[in-house]
Amino acid sequence: MKSRAIVAASFGLGFCCLALAAPGPTESQAIELLMANISSPGAAPGAVVAAPRDQGPQGPDYFYHWVRDAGLVMDVVARLYARETDTARKAAFERALLEFVRFSRRNQLTPTPSGHLGEPKFNADGSAFHGPWGRPQNDGPALRALALIRLARAWLAEGQEATVREWLYDGKFPTQSVIKTDLEFVASRWRESCFDLWEEVRGKHFYTRVVQRQALVEGASLALRLGDPGAAQWYLAQARGLESELDRHWDPRVGAVVPTLERDGGIDYKTSGLDASVILAVLHAGAGADRFGPLDERVLSSFRRLENEFAGLYPINHKGWPAVAIGRYPEDRYDGVSTGREGNPWVLLTLAFGEFLRVSASAAEAAGRVAVTPVNVGFLRAFGASAPVGAAIAGAELARLMAAMRVRAEEYVARGRLHADGVHLSEQINRHGGQMQGARDLSWSYAALLTAGPLAGFVIGLPAAGSTLPGDRARR
Ligand code: NOJ
Ligand code: NOJ
Repeated sequence: MKSRAIVAASFGLGFCCLALAAPGPTESQAIELLMANISSPGAAPGAVVAAPRDQGPQGPDYFYHWVRDAGLVMDVVARLYARETDTARKAAFERALLEFVRFSRRNQLTPTPSGHLGEPKFNADGSAFHGPWGRPQNDGPALRALALIRLARAWLAEGQEATVREWLYDGKFPTQSVIKTDLEFVASRWRESCFDLWEEVRGKHFYTRVVQRQALVEGASLALRLGDPGAAQWYLAQARGLESELDRHWDPRVGAVVPTLERDGGIDYKTSGLDASVILAVLHAGAGADRFGPLDERVLSSFRRLENEFAGLYPINHKGWPAVAIGRYPEDRYDGVSTGREGNPWVLLTLAFGEFLRVSASAAEAAGRVAVTPVNVGFLRAFGASAPVGAAIAGAELARLMAAMRVRAEEYVARGRLHADGVHLSEQINRHGGQMQGARDLSWSYAALLTAGPLAGFVIGLPAAGSTLPGDRARR
């Protein structure tokens, strides 16, 4: 309790100083703008729209419930709920979560063009969306499960096991509950090709696989805790299957983890092999992930390659602003409204790069040493480390490395806020002028701001279940 308060206090301080120096929403403004997109007027209770309906005459139509965006946003709401001490505010977060659970269960039972749970988005009233789209997108159910597993952990920590069983995980087969329905989907269909998180490429995706694996691992712990050991074993076996696929995404010629293997549809001009979704994958799996975690040499190398690439690519990265504004991938042609134009840096990715450095520095601190390898040496040099390949960085040199990473982390977060329009964040940052572009008040941008700063380091552990499974650790 005490250390939690200290963490919160120190972040509050850092954030407030940053807020004075830079535009963009404060923590409470970001929470308010994020909450405004949940159960909003014109949408069904529990719908989490990607952005408000009114986007002006030229704006994109983001007034839909995307399963991915909603999962990521509600994961943040579950963290807000778990740490809240004010009764009224806690009740408001819980109400949003309960409505989201009901809405999600309805999504699961609604027939859709995908014919299974990989349907990427629903109309804001909860009905199926029948227009053409890049479907299916099989990361959605995994992200929804991860958010709700976090809620389950919070409720279990409060002694509300009956509520967890009633609302989230019934341990039955066939199941009527939302988390188990998602886990059964992931466990039985992870081998299938689908569209990526950017809704453009069909194939086997690193991001999708990482979040699927994490959902299965955390789902297995929850299943075990709730007396469903057969399911736990099955989920873990499938997680192991996913793991052997993950390693294939490392491409030494690129010096990065490549986003897609076995492409079988969608756009074909992503030739660099670089994609910032690799960093998002690491964050969305949580710092506890034991594979492709925030200190993995392949991840560090990918970070460095991406940072260099975007630093050179966007004119606004040559103007002396802090850190680097980060885009989805170098060949991107989506301008926030249509594809076939000029891609831009994104707010949520720039913030994610800051979050990554903070998480990675903490992982280095916990490890106590970082081995210098031919693969991670470029990353480490960029933060001033001089130890040769083959040596280990520890002691005072490790402390200097971590400090440099943390300074850079704050610069990234400052940069993600810098281009805000007053308190409002959109999806993109115009690559020439730096003005906000694309969907205004994008829910995911606010979620990314909150995880990059104020909610950092806030952990809900799973209460002791009697036995634990290998590979299971609490997520951040
Ligand atoms: C193409 C974009 O690249 C993709 O990310 C977006 O979701 C769709 N168009 C729909 O706007
Ligand atoms: C486009 C992004 O590429 C996709 O990931 C997101 O789900 C939608 N916009 C909605 O925000």
